[in-house]
Amino acid sequence: MKYVTLKQTSLKLSQIGLGCMRIANMTVDDVEKLISGALAQGINFFDHADIYGGGQSEKVFGEALEKHPEWRSQMIIQTKCGIIPGKRYDFSKKHILQQVNQSLENLHTDYVDILLLHRPDMIYDPEELSDAIHTLYNEGKIKYFGVSNHNSYQIALLEKYLKDIPVLINQLQFSIIHSGMIDVGMNVNMVEQWAIDKDSSILDYCRLNDILIQPWSPFQASWADGTFINNPKYEKLNAVLEQLADKYHTNKNAIALAWILKHPANMQPILGTTSLVHLNESLEALDFEITKQEWYDLYLAEGKPLP
Ligand SMILES: NC(=O)c1ccc[n+]([C@@H]2O[C@H](COP(=O)([O-])OP(=O)(O)OC[C@H]3O[C@@H](n4cnc5c(N)ncnc54)[C@H](OP(=O)(O)O)[C@@H]3O)[C@@H](O)[C@H]2O)c1
Repeated sequence: MKYVTLKQTSLKLSQIGLGCMRIANMTVDDVEKLISGALAQGINFFDHADIYGGGQSEKVFGEALEKHPEWRSQMIIQTKCGIIPGKRYDFSKKHILQQVNQSLENLHTDYVDILLLHRPDMIYDPEELSDAIHTLYNEGKIKYFGVSNHNSYQIALLEKYLKDIPVLINQLQFSIIHSGMIDVGMNVNMVEQWAIDKDSSILDYCRLNDILIQPWSPFQASWADGTFINNPKYEKLNAVLEQLADKYHTNKNAIALAWILKHPANMQPILGTTSLVHLNESLEALDFEITKQEWYDLYLAEGKPLP
């Protein structure tokens, strides 16, 4: 396993994190096996959110952790809050404190290593939010702080009010087929759709400020289509993935992950697999590096242009 150091901290995060969004319906025994297999591979990073499985993902993880208290010190646990599904986003102090307390109870732990705000609440009060995050810090319930799905100016605004608490992480959707962060940089000042800046150049902003980008859904196309791996809708891309998988004696997942890892931002992809077989296959991405041309070949195979 390779590790990335979170800026201004001594935290060493496994280069690949395990996302726990899909574990809600697994048995505690199966979750135990998944965690144990991940730890054995050097994965120390586990991503949660209060809303995954309506809280059930945290609960089943917490039950596994309760059976193995020795795991806690080896783990970096991240959770998120701020979404009330289908209703609103909520960065109020009341909601944030309530959700973090619930997450701690679900996870059977006294603290989470990192708390992320899940998605921007467009009508939040930044002073109230800062108060909430400082309260959680002072109570020792969270060690570090970050965001998810935030653009550059939203992060700058947050930091203005948080003052001494830095935003260390931004978790964003990113994969070969969801590459808006790359498209916009590649198409500066062009008229085509690829040039539309949907995130105020968040990739460059995060790099300039040493904010770790955590790509979510590295393989998933959509809820309706499942993954793009072996998906006939992505025939051309799969052909290139297969060709490179043959060259590197590996599999398509590992190539798709190697495409993300090739980027010099040194991102930490969060995988959502519930299968140790798929996890181990994906981790092969850490054993080789694709060439610059192969990185572009994969990008172009998805139908993107070079302007
Ligand atoms: N911040 C946010 O807004 C946000 C949003 C979504 C997700 N997330 C986080 O990101 C994590 C990852 O997201 P994700 O689960 O969408 O990621 P993903 O790793 O792209 O997709 C996981 C899905 O792909 C399947 N899969 C992977 N390899 C496969 C293969 N070779 N063949 C068939 N199926 C394969 C998995 O099935 P198997 O279980 O069978 O392997 C699983 O259903 C989540 O767990 C969550 O922690 C964050």
